[in-house]
Amino acid sequence: MGDLKVGIIGAGLIATQVHIPNYLQYGHRVKVVAIADAVIEKAQQAAKKFGIPHTFHSFKEMFAEVELDAVSICVPNKFHAEATIAALESGCHVLCEKPPAMNAAEAQLMLETANKVGKSLRYGFNFRHSKKVKIIKNAIDMGDLGHIYSARVQAIRRRGIPGWGVFTNKELKGGGRLIDIGVHMLDVALYLMGYPEPENVLGKTHQRIGNRNGVGLLGEWDYENFNVEDMAVGMITFKNGATLLLETAFAANVEKDDTMQVSIMGDNGGADIFPLKIYQEKYGALLDVSPVYVQERDVYHHEITHFVNCCLIGTQPLSTPEQGLIIQRIVDAMYESAAIGEAIKFA
Ligand SMILES: NC(=O)c1ccc[n+]([C@@H]2O[C@H](COP(=O)([O-])OP(=O)(O)OC[C@H]3O[C@@H](n4cnc5c(N)ncnc54)[C@H](O)[C@@H]3O)[C@@H](O)[C@H]2O)c1
Repeated sequence: MGDLKVGIIGAGLIATQVHIPNYLQYGHRVKVVAIADAVIEKAQQAAKKFGIPHTFHSFKEMFAEVELDAVSICVPNKFHAEATIAALESGCHVLCEKPPAMNAAEAQLMLETANKVGKSLRYGFNFRHSKKVKIIKNAIDMGDLGHIYSARVQAIRRRGIPGWGVFTNKELKGGGRLIDIGVHMLDVALYLMGYPEPENVLGKTHQRIGNRNGVGLLGEWDYENFNVEDMAVGMITFKNGATLLLETAFAANVEKDDTMQVSIMGDNGGADIFPLKIYQEKYGALLDVSPVYVQERDVYHHEITHFVNCCLIGTQPLSTPEQGLIIQRIVDAMYESAAIGEAIKFA
């Protein structure tokens, strides 16, 4: 294959801060040739800043006019499925930002389309690219932690409701903290657990702080139109017998401003990932092992480079659309369980 001609859909924060700069850093084999944004001025601004030759106000127009090999989907969640499917059907590999979609039905269709057209589909689960995650994955693969039978996932902020963007708009995001950031930590846990199949999901959501005026550590949010959960709590059991506890919050009355943590427990050892610490029983003692130094890498840079390598040289992908579908099924089940007040059992 020759050079990789890349198109960008959405010219907002993640496109301009992460995707475009990292494609450009890859070197001469990658060219960002087109960008589409519903607000054409935003596409034009980004095009000017990064030297992108073609701008469009709709991605359909972009696919009709420019020949592309790969596309980054950087639009609000509501448009992920439509844009991804259009890109795949135009013959492009796709890196779609997280979460995969608004719901599992959309994620299923995205997966089926990728399989039908034989193109690569990746989701922006960038935490998985952390060196800390890789170190623990190595430890698990070497058998050092034994069988992983339980995990705990936290993505909790004290007062971290974003005062910008569409984070608190259910119609555009599909939900609150769970579907926005909870999915990152959930992906890390599931990846380390070997992506077991879920069996039961019991979820509960709360809206106690976001819908009233108050102190905001990330600016003033629109509390009058806040229509997502500010906290989601859940328990997931898996068909292999493993369990996972999940706590996510945009706002909760807790000590720390922002806790992002994945803890995994195996029968020969456990670990916290952020920061990294391993817990074991060895030599007749209970040991804590902390690395003296981890050479962390820029997870976004690694993610985009990895995606380009998958497209250009057929590197084995780190994540699959099937895994994206599992995450989305769990998120759907969390919200459904919260709505009906019962656990959701998977067939
Ligand atoms: N992986 C991460 O760390 C991370 C961080 C931030 C955002 N994200 C994800 O990236 C996506 C975008 O988030 P953002 O913060 O960049 O949002 P943003 O609001 O800054 O940008 C979104 C852009 O999409 C444009 N847009 C909206 N609908 C469109 C459509 N139908 N066609 C073309 N353009 C359209 C908007 O005009 C806007 O410029 C979201 O899915 C979000 O979850 C991921």
